[in-house]
Amino acid sequence: MAKPVLQALQGKKTATTPIWLMRQAGRYLPEYRKVRAQAKDFLNLCYSPELAAEVTMQPIRRFGFDAAIIFADILLVPDALGQKVWFEESHGPRLEALDGTRAIGQLSIDRIVPHLAPVYDAIARVRAQLDPDVALIGFAGAPWTVATYMCEGGGSSDQAAARAWAYRDSIGFGQLMDVLVEATITHLKAQVDAGADVLQLFDTWAGALDEAGFAQWCIAPAKSIVSALKAEFPKVPIIGFPRGAGARLHAYVRETGVDGIGLDSGVPLDMARRFLQPHACVQGNLDPLRLVAGGAAMHSQVHAILDAFAERPFIFNLGHGIVLQTPLEHVEALVKLVRDKKAS
Ligand code: CP3
Repeated sequence: MAKPVLQALQGKKTATTPIWLMRQAGRYLPEYRKVRAQAKDFLNLCYSPELAAEVTMQPIRRFGFDAAIIFADILLVPDALGQKVWFEESHGPRLEALDGTRAIGQLSIDRIVPHLAPVYDAIARVRAQLDPDVALIGFAGAPWTVATYMCEGGGSSDQAAARAWAYRDSIGFGQLMDVLVEATITHLKAQVDAGADVLQLFDTWAGALDEAGFAQWCIAPAKSIVSALKAEFPKVPIIGFPRGAGARLHAYVRETGVDGIGLDSGVPLDMARRFLQPHACVQGNLDPLRLVAGGAAMHSQVHAILDAFAERPFIFNLGHGIVLQTPLEHVEALVKLVRDKKAS
């Protein structure tokens, strides 16, 4: 069966533009909040295959998106490597801070597959119940973004701990990045083995690095990951999402070999159409707050995106994750707007 998301990533025209939304499973859905309460803790939900599969399916059932993204988190990788992760209700993620190169030796790539087995189990469960036209996306955080959380011991507004370490001691920081590249490859391969048919690499904090830092810590690791995956699974498309990369998106696409490129809402449509679309399938980029606003604010920009990218296949998405206060009717209206517009 033809999956529109896969077709678009292969550069093939689709009857309508495929759509899914980053963070489409989450607290804006009442049915998610119910399962989440049952699981009590967010990590417990990620590590419970039956519940994780259920919340992965919820937005597909409700909105009929063209792709399901497995319910998990980018911080499961440091957790599996041995750096304990927990989520505090009002603070977001917390990690035992990594103190320098000494601690890197204690991380173990051998733990990835056994520790993350529940994620692979959840993928197999979703695969078994998913309509054959709907793609199943596996994912991982890009090494740089995961490293920012590992170095800070949680989220931060400026990723200063990782940036300072990366610039000050590129050899020491490079050892951490090497571990993360290997761990990411192992985790993504296992997701494909379990049934994922597309992969996305989330580099949420790519925009925090300068040009040389971006080349070294975003492009080079993504290139290693893409080439390792392509060597084993040449047909599984990979979407890179270096958020905030701006004018460096072109270099990212050219040098990493990704099939798809996620665009944040700040990327000018004309630039993406002219310089990115000829080389990769673009994905994006409605501001999630336009989805909250709805009405004309949403309609005008949805049409601007659909018109800008109409000449080649692309995937409709947000420029970042859906937010908690998003009205469900606005998501329904968005899907209808995108579906009603026939590709030319
Ligand atoms: O997209 C999906 O529906 C699949 C699941 C998914 C989650 N996190 C579930 C989640 C995906 C793809 C992610 C990726 C992720 N996780 C990123 C990269 C993308 C991005 O948003 O920039 C990052 C940076 C994280 C780390 C993370 N996880 C943070 C900072 C937080 C706390 C902030 C928040 O939104 O609550 C999380 C928690 C998290 N991950 C939730 C969900 C549904 C909320 C947890 C809850 O239910 O309490």
